Amino acid sequence: MTTLHPDLAGVIISEEDIQRRVKELANQISTDYVDAERVYLIGILKGAFIFLSDLSRCLTIPNVVDFMAVSSYGKTATSTGAVRVVLDLRDTIENKHVIIVEDIVDTGLTLSYLYKTLKSRNPASLKTCVLAIKDRDSIDVPIDYLGFEIPDVWVVGYGLDYADTHRTLPFVAELKQEVYENK
Ligand code: IMP
Repeated sequence: MTTLHPDLAGVIISEEDIQRRVKELANQISTDYVDAERVYLIGILKGAFIFLSDLSRCLTIPNVVDFMAVSSYGKTATSTGAVRVVLDLRDTIENKHVIIVEDIVDTGLTLSYLYKTLKSRNPASLKTCVLAIKDRDSIDVPIDYLGFEIPDVWVVGYGLDYADTHRTLPFVAELKQEVYENK
């Protein structure tokens, strides 16, 4: 058994479960878009870059990746509530089949903002693919492809970070509350 870093309370999603679920999501997307010329995957930096790279390599349909970055949380585990684009797409998405690929949905503010922003650019279609959603009552954005539902705790690994730490773990783990409360 691997010894966990002392900052971590436990594994929430194992590496095996992530890899299996990413393949399932990719199969589903490949089936749904089989008639599309190509699909545009928009990864949201930084958290979605590992998920996006695994997902895109499992797709059996032509796909193009691009990235956006938004600021919403800064360096703490507390939401500022404000979302703004800090890195935009290179190309237009007008008349293209677009999937937003996001690491995690907590309040849903970030995804909802991105969805509205990209929808206003007139893509042929717009869907969302999210690795994990926290157990919440409601969010006001559709999630078309979802990896996992997880408890409402701060998680790190598989692209997710806390102040840029623990991002490259191959699994998703819970960060001990004392770690972000003491900063
Ligand atoms: P939301 O806008 O509240 O849904 O938060 C979404 C964004 O906050 C994600 O894209 C992440 O960057 C960040 N985030 C929310 N929860 C976590 C977490 O548990 N670990 C790491 N990042 C998180």
